[in-house]
Amino acid sequence: MSQNVLITGANRGIGHALARLAAERGDRVVGTARSAEGCAAIEALRAFGDVSAFMADATDPERSSALADMLADRPVDILICNAGALIGRGGIEDPAYTRRAFETVLMTNVAGPFFTVRGFLPLLRKSSNPRVAIISSGMGSSARAKGNAYLYRASKAAATNLAANLAVELKPMGVAVAAYHPGWVRTEMGGAGAELTPDESAAGLLARLGVLSLATTGAVEDYAGASIPF
Ligand SMILES: NC(=O)c1ccc[n+]([C@@H]2O[C@H](COP(=O)([O-])OP(=O)(O)OC[C@H]3O[C@@H](n4cnc5c(N)ncnc54)[C@H](OP(=O)(O)O)[C@@H]3O)[C@@H](O)[C@H]2O)c1
Repeated sequence: MSQNVLITGANRGIGHALARLAAERGDRVVGTARSAEGCAAIEALRAFGDVSAFMADATDPERSSALADMLADRPVDILICNAGALIGRGGIEDPAYTRRAFETVLMTNVAGPFFTVRGFLPLLRKSSNPRVAIISSGMGSSARAKGNAYLYRASKAAATNLAANLAVELKPMGVAVAAYHPGWVRTEMGGAGAELTPDESAAGLLARLGVLSLATTGAVEDYAGASIPF
């Protein structure tokens, strides 16, 4: 059965693969990007199915709410908070860790999913089987601390925590929420040496969302269903 899927940061990387695979299987896909070029990249996916693109910076709470108002006639069955940013991969002395870098990464990876879920909650509540994916990262696992990439790791720990709390608050509303590690994926962020193609990751994430339910809400797992320690 066709589902309504909304994906943030759908113009490239894992988000783009998610949008294409969801469209190919017959879902109605809304993808967001923060630039006109990004929206054009999403619109190119119309060759694969029912895809629409909207300009939205994931960190802008007013924009999420305005978009939800514009799309008020359709429920959101699956909301994928995918947009993410990584700045600084080194140790504590890495000069990449500036105040601006903290603002960018924490706004994108923590405030972004929060405002996106809050903005689209009215449309999630219109679905008969609403599910939310927070695309977090295994790098947010404190059990897997490596003493580097401080900012990104802290932001993804917060994103996973956000998913855990959303799962508790939204359960009585019938909305299931999980945090996912997409694997190490060959994108601009993951780099050319990563293990997975965006398609492999996206196919796994869509399969996991297919089995996410109120019974499993609050899960923290990877694209293949393996649990990630928090
Ligand atoms: N690749 C990996 O190995 C890996 C591993 C673990 C977790 N992840 C997570 O998976 C998600 C997707 O990663 P990726 O590898 O596909 O990264 P990517 O190739 O760097 O793509 C990031 C996407 O997020 C968008 N974005 C960033 N900030 C945004 C904002 N403020 N508003 C709207 N869109 C914004 C980017 O848009 P622009 O084109 O406009 O910049 C781009 O579409 C991220 O949350 C990432 O942290 C990735």
